[in-house]
Amino acid sequence: MLPYCEPYKIKMIEPLYRSSREDREKWICEAHYNMFNLKSDQVFIDFLTDSGTGAMSDRQWAALMSGDESYAGSRSFTELYETVRELTGFEYLLPTHQGRAAENVLFSALVKEGQLVPGNAHFDTTKGHIEFRKATAVDCTIDEAYDTTQYHPFKGNVNIGKLEELLKKSADKVSFILLTATCNTAGGQPISMDNMKQVRKLADQYGKLVIMDAARFAENAYFIKTREEGFNDKPIKAIVREMFSLFDGATMSAKKDGIVNIGGFIALNSKEIYQAASVFNIMFEGYLTYGGMAGRDLAALAVGLRESTEFDYLESRISQVAYLGEKLKSFGVPVQEPFGGHAIFIDALRFLPNVPREEFPAQTLVAELYKAGGLRAVEIGALMADRDPITRVNRYPALELVRLAIPRRTYTNNHMEYAAAVAGEVMEISKKICHGYRITHEAPIMRHFTIEMEPIA
Ligand code: F0G
Repeated sequence: MLPYCEPYKIKMIEPLYRSSREDREKWICEAHYNMFNLKSDQVFIDFLTDSGTGAMSDRQWAALMSGDESYAGSRSFTELYETVRELTGFEYLLPTHQGRAAENVLFSALVKEGQLVPGNAHFDTTKGHIEFRKATAVDCTIDEAYDTTQYHPFKGNVNIGKLEELLKKSADKVSFILLTATCNTAGGQPISMDNMKQVRKLADQYGKLVIMDAARFAENAYFIKTREEGFNDKPIKAIVREMFSLFDGATMSAKKDGIVNIGGFIALNSKEIYQAASVFNIMFEGYLTYGGMAGRDLAALAVGLRESTEFDYLESRISQVAYLGEKLKSFGVPVQEPFGGHAIFIDALRFLPNVPREEFPAQTLVAELYKAGGLRAVEIGALMADRDPITRVNRYPALELVRLAIPRRTYTNNHMEYAAAVAGEVMEISKKICHGYRITHEAPIMRHFTIEMEPIA
């Protein structure tokens, strides 16, 4: 069989700047060891996020030029509406400026104080929007997701037993069930179609809505096609349609599988919920046919959604992520397996076994990768897990991960080789690293974005 190959060529490039270790040590200290405080030209390869950082196609750029900036009834809205309806089957669409805005609007309509929102490891902004409303996000992910050494093709799956128990005990408190596809927090891991069907069945028994956090829905469909029995012959778009048919609606961060730099939406079946959410959309985002996006961005998103649901694109995308994973493994770096759809997750507890958990081993590794080679990664561990909103005690999640998120269509495999070699160098000295960082400043919610830290000598 021939190897995979990118189904595109490069038309425009953007320079990257090399720096010395000395420069980087100074910059990261000035940034209070928070990677969000670094300037982008202080970074050589930026794995901070795959969100809004991808490269648009020439067709998307062309769509930008033909965007319709009418306040109401924009032609670009209609293009997006028709695309979303065709891909998802949902009748109602509310554009928002990004994913968390979609959460804000939809949860304003659906989530009440004291309620529960069970699902598979909610993303941090999602959890933030639930907790902000004094409700609770209940993680029902399967246990296998929390063992980085164990293979499971669908580590994003919900533990049906756990969910059923929760519904049996407290169905009256459950606002809706939220499935994140792929599950970012569990390592970019997919949910199987079979698991989605089981969740749907349970939800129907208890009369509950099921909403998809659809940020990486296309990558999830690729994994269903390549890993789940009975889907190999089906086109991605058919799998996508089947996935969405099991849901009542979705929130979308279009900065991921929409391959645009900014944008999001809510898509729904229910006119009633659409009408309730519309009020909040107008208040927080903008009128119903633009919702915080420029007409040109709506147009580029319509094209991006069609491109991200092409098999050839997804194959090259996910194979590049796996390429980085394999290279890291060849240097002995402990990584979450199977590899995620948008990122490789390094197990920091295995990488830095001598750094105590209260000194934030994943953040310590993030700093080392930057100092060694200018890589910018992100901590997905105790810093991001934040404090318990009631007791204010630090939460220590089952996994302490470093995420290397790969922007779409942006870097080459040479960049992946370089990054793996940097991690390999840090691996060689990993046992000698015994101390991490202490917090010197933190915000009351979603602290990791603005946190300030100092090394524990
Ligand atoms: N849901 C998931 C699964 C996400 O990964 C994100 C964002 C959001 C919702 C919120 O969307 O950023 O458009 O407001 N994830 C980014 C990341 C930030 O780096 O993983 P947003």
